[in-house]
Amino acid sequence: MKSGLSIHQTKALWFDSKLNQVVIIDQTVLPHQYIEHRVGSALEMVDAIRSMKLRGAPLIGTAAAYGMYFAFIEAKRSNQFQPVFESTKSQLHSARPTAVNLMDAVDFMIPFCHPDHENIQVLEAAQQYENQNNQACYGIGLNGLELIRDIYTKTKKTVQILTHCNAGWLATGTYGTATAPIYLAHEAGIPVHVWVDETRPRNQGANLTSWELMQMQVPHTVIADNTGGHLMQHAMVDMVIVGSDRTTANGDVANKIGTYLKALAAFDNKIPFYVALPLSTIDFELCDGISQIPIEERGSEELTHILGIDEQNMIRNIRIYAESTSVINYGFDVTPARLVTALITEKGVVKANKEAISRLTNFEL
Ligand code: MRU
Repeated sequence: MKSGLSIHQTKALWFDSKLNQVVIIDQTVLPHQYIEHRVGSALEMVDAIRSMKLRGAPLIGTAAAYGMYFAFIEAKRSNQFQPVFESTKSQLHSARPTAVNLMDAVDFMIPFCHPDHENIQVLEAAQQYENQNNQACYGIGLNGLELIRDIYTKTKKTVQILTHCNAGWLATGTYGTATAPIYLAHEAGIPVHVWVDETRPRNQGANLTSWELMQMQVPHTVIADNTGGHLMQHAMVDMVIVGSDRTTANGDVANKIGTYLKALAAFDNKIPFYVALPLSTIDFELCDGISQIPIEERGSEELTHILGIDEQNMIRNIRIYAESTSVINYGFDVTPARLVTALITEKGVVKANKEAISRLTNFEL
């Protein structure tokens, strides 16, 4: 990782055309080690998504688009295009259940994956999907920047922003969703300070968001997950910005477990609670997040064990619970639309309700 990188140069994934491989940053070992991991087949992509070497809804989408490209090549080589392609496609489609960008990317790629097509046509489609994702994040940044600027214009004080999990460039490809407005505000000279939730069990806030903000020299402080409410009661938070893994047509938001509790605390303290997301994260087929969004249940070891670095700089995974403790590990929760001040999208900032969302997307069509 080069130091002094600008936010406009960040990339969590890139295509190596010489070797016909996708290169990703292995997010399971950050911030302790920076390792680039090469993916050269559809099933390796499924594994990278499942094992969370890459994660975050928009990045999972881009990865799945390239996974479809590999699936296409492999199916063509097999001389049994349809069964081979269908089997790999369904493994990609179900690699993780909550982030709808995964399904969006697979659906986007299907028409390009016709057996008569050339490899290059399918590769260009995946690259187009990636570019759309990246441009959407920049658009979110520009729209969210104005919300931060408004607060600064009123208070003339450092804008205190709380975020949960990692909705940064590592989660999207570049810019991030929740972090895009923060990076652009910082670049515009608006003083910001970010409260970074640790985000147990996988600590994506402490490990990834903090690492990103450090690279970009954005002032920030990591807090334990339970600290947000206290900060809000003491007027230490001006706004909350989080990302989303799936948002329904009426504005209910699925995001990393614990987001709902932050939204409740923000509501109680009259602090604006924004959700930053590209339109590809909206699932227009759903209208009740709590009953309809599939919530991923993950392995118990994410709770019972913790990854860290010892005095010899060795990464260690140690057990922190008593052996055979019974645990349950939900990856996401749903924040009802009524607790969301607005959605920050690439097309504008809108109320989290059906009418506003459909106006915005009709406008897009
Ligand atoms: O399980 P993850 O790490 O893939 O989940 C990601 C999140 O929930 C993030 O909070 C994010 O907001 C969604 S992706 C920008």
